[in-house]
Amino acid sequence: MRIIEDPAELSSLSLRRCGFVPTMGALHEGHGSLVRLAAAGGRPVVVSIFVNPTQFGPKEDYARYPRTLDSDCALLEPLGVAAVFVPSVEAIYPRGLEAARVESAALALPDVATMPGLEDSCRPGHLAGVALVVGRLFDLVGASAAYFGEKDFQQLRLVDDMVEADRARFGGLKIVPCATIRETDGLAMSSRNRYLSADERIAALALSRALQLARAAERVKDAEAAMHEVLVSCGLETEYAVVRDARTLMPVDESTTALVRPTRALIAARLGHTRLIDNASMAREH
Ligand code: PAF
Repeated sequence: MRIIEDPAELSSLSLRRCGFVPTMGALHEGHGSLVRLAAAGGRPVVVSIFVNPTQFGPKEDYARYPRTLDSDCALLEPLGVAAVFVPSVEAIYPRGLEAARVESAALALPDVATMPGLEDSCRPGHLAGVALVVGRLFDLVGASAAYFGEKDFQQLRLVDDMVEADRARFGGLKIVPCATIRETDGLAMSSRNRYLSADERIAALALSRALQLARAAERVKDAEAAMHEVLVSCGLETEYAVVRDARTLMPVDESTTALVRPTRALIAARLGHTRLIDNASMAREH
């Protein structure tokens, strides 16, 4: 497994047409599952580890985001990864961070990224920063397929629409959605779970519990009410707990039944200093 910092070295390795798993490191079994799926595609696998400053707000956890390269490589090595790309901020943003932030703010994003009441309302600029870095990484890596977890559902929808809207730039790149991997008690795996205290770790189960109740509800408004109730009763501060159209992420008529068309329940909530997100398909068979 090669560890590569220099984009020019990455290009020289003829790993184009690889399976690509972009990450910010602090890897866990959720990332492991993305890599396994990429490897099953039969192509060499490239994983990037880059804590992207442009997707963090000024008061967010960029500085304290866990940087654990040694244990990340230990997780990746047995999975048959061909290369781990660990670029510097300068390599990704050669014109400087200020210029990158200006560029990110000016990006024309697909509608799913700016849908009111979701990530953009709570973390302005976050998804623009994701779009900027993911586009850069796709340009540098030149993969055939890129693997994204459903846990960051709006991110997944954004990247998919972004690639679809610019085939001239991204060619035949396929975005592969990968199911959320959960701890045995239901908590969605996340690099940020390590911020949780023992008590918060228990309270965090409210997210998966809320999603279960939402899936059992007949109507959208009952699903949303049930999610809010669980989150509040477990002491979480809800940013959103909504049911949306699964493709466009637009609001759905709250009096309709959840099963009329593909819908997705989406939650963002805070526990102390930690922000957690989770989501689930409202389709009964999933
Ligand atoms: O999901 C993540 O880890 C990040 O948002 C990504 C896609 C690697 C972009 O920095």
